Amino acid sequence: MPLRIDILTLFPEMFAPILGTSIPKRAAEKGLVSYHLTQIRDFAIDGHKSVDDKPFGGGHGMVMMCQTVYDAVRAVENQDQRPATRILLSPQGRIFDQPLAEDLARKDRLLLIAGHYEGFDERIIDGLQPMEVSIGDYVLSGGELAAMVMVDAIVRLLPGALGAEQGAIDETFADGLLEYPQYTKPREFEGMNVPEVLLSGDHGKIARWRLEQRRLRTQQRRPDLWQAYIEKNAAMLEAERLKAEKKEKRKRKPRGGEDFGTI
Ligand code: 6GU
Repeated sequence: MPLRIDILTLFPEMFAPILGTSIPKRAAEKGLVSYHLTQIRDFAIDGHKSVDDKPFGGGHGMVMMCQTVYDAVRAVENQDQRPATRILLSPQGRIFDQPLAEDLARKDRLLLIAGHYEGFDERIIDGLQPMEVSIGDYVLSGGELAAMVMVDAIVRLLPGALGAEQGAIDETFADGLLEYPQYTKPREFEGMNVPEVLLSGDHGKIARWRLEQRRLRTQQRRPDLWQAYIEKNAAMLEAERLKAEKKEKRKRKPRGGEDFGTI
């Protein structure tokens, strides 16, 4: 069964260009995922098709009402027997990251609720118990873009979604390091050259250079990721350090003969 993704929103038209392009589109064509958009406003019961109202206690903006969201969630959930993992997009949520994307890519049904206005009536969260998710510490006008970010990150992890099977595994964050620098033709551009090692044809050497570049970049740009990496890989890094130390000693004290030193 393909992963079923339901999206509840007041702006379903925002999603077509994203879900109908590139990897998200191809994944659906391959039968790995299906997208189902639901207009929350269709569940409004008054003449004005209201989905929001003024906050009790005063304050600016409008608040998404319980009834329309509850009715939309229940109607959509009844379209399929499989229970859905409910996700509510909100700046108050836990920050979306690669481990969460990997986790959600293993589910068989996701239901994303994107709100607008100042927020949701708290009883939507208390009663429906969704996982609240934010895509970062900045404020968007609504949850739609955040939902699209999540869908893209999740869908590309589905087995078979990417052309090159390596793709999803070998990149940034899969092992907690940033990606190495990439180059393509030409070898020289406006005086800037491709690093010599990449032209050497020595695959072992290239792999070692790339790993070193990933570590350097992570150290320099993302001390938070670097700290987590050295904690997780302490044993491997210690083994590498010992190996390098031995190599260094062998260079200084060559056995069986004279030490000619370095020229
Ligand atoms: Cl999920 N919603 C809104 N409105 N703003 C956000 C967000 C979500 N994640 C980051 N900023």
